[in-house]
Amino acid sequence: MILVTGATGTIGSHVVRLLTERGVPFRAMSRRELPGGVRADFDDPASLARAVADVDAVFLVTVPPVPTADHDVALVTAARAAGVRKIVKLSAIGSGERFDGATVGAWHLAGEKAIEASGLAWTMLRPPSFASNFLWYRTAIQAGEPVPNLTGDSRQAVVDPGDVAAVAVAALTGDAHDGQRYDVTGPELLTFADQAAILERVLERPVGTIDAHVSDGLPAEVVTGIGWARAGGAAYATDHVPRILGRPARTFEQWARDHREAFAAAP
Ligand SMILES: NC(=O)c1ccc[n+]([C@@H]2O[C@H](COP(=O)([O-])OP(=O)(O)OC[C@H]3O[C@@H](n4cnc5c(N)ncnc54)[C@H](OP(=O)(O)O)[C@@H]3O)[C@@H](O)[C@H]2O)c1
Repeated sequence: MILVTGATGTIGSHVVRLLTERGVPFRAMSRRELPGGVRADFDDPASLARAVADVDAVFLVTVPPVPTADHDVALVTAARAAGVRKIVKLSAIGSGERFDGATVGAWHLAGEKAIEASGLAWTMLRPPSFASNFLWYRTAIQAGEPVPNLTGDSRQAVVDPGDVAAVAVAALTGDAHDGQRYDVTGPELLTFADQAAILERVLERPVGTIDAHVSDGLPAEVVTGIGWARAGGAAYATDHVPRILGRPARTFEQWARDHREAFAAAP
């Protein structure tokens, strides 16, 4: 039995889809009631104990309201007590790098360390920006307004969430990826403006960008991560997707074509 946390989110929903297609038994976790799922909250240890009961492997997605490893640690504690064998954690590219006197992705790094120290088997997935982040700007795009470019002229191998999920499923359903850290990237390095230009071509409507700097209202950890990416820290692509999945990583343009309808729909 596989436990899929973050099952209603961007990556977890693809993991749910792929496991369903393959007929692999799994339990989807949400703070809401899901048909056939388990209702649990990282902040509620009793609910986590129910979620991990009889589970062999966990797909771990944490989006804590403040950037700490508390949710990772809570899951590790429950998983150890229940005899779970493996955790596949969705982390982020660059976690542990130093930038501007601070640690990039410090909370993900702390979560990774807690998992490593647990004695359980693990795989860490460290993607760069998801192609789907452009859906955050759907309303602006529909209104013909420019979308904020936080990363300047820096390039990233922006990844299709479906590819991250497919690698997660490979790690969850076999042991070939135990003890591995994968920077699960897309195939090509693109600036934010490159992505907007591709989207503009696919949607056949203007997708402008406006240079923006983050600082106000965001946790320092998030500002550090964006600064690191803006300075070019994430400007590399890996062959992990083709090596693990036996097919090319999907391009931003392929993702955009698949989501044309979503950009037309009401947000
Ligand atoms: N976006 C990017 O470009 C990017 C790039 C690299 C790495 N990442 C990492 O990817 C992760 C986010 O993944 P995602 O985008 O797939 O997530 P997401 O779409 O933001 O969804 C978050 C999920 O977490 C669940 N959740 C939130 N709080 C919870 C709690 N207290 N207890 C239990 N479940 C809770 C939500 O479930 P319910 O609401 O149903 O309970 C939801 O399914 C983050 O760790 C981020 O750092 C993101």
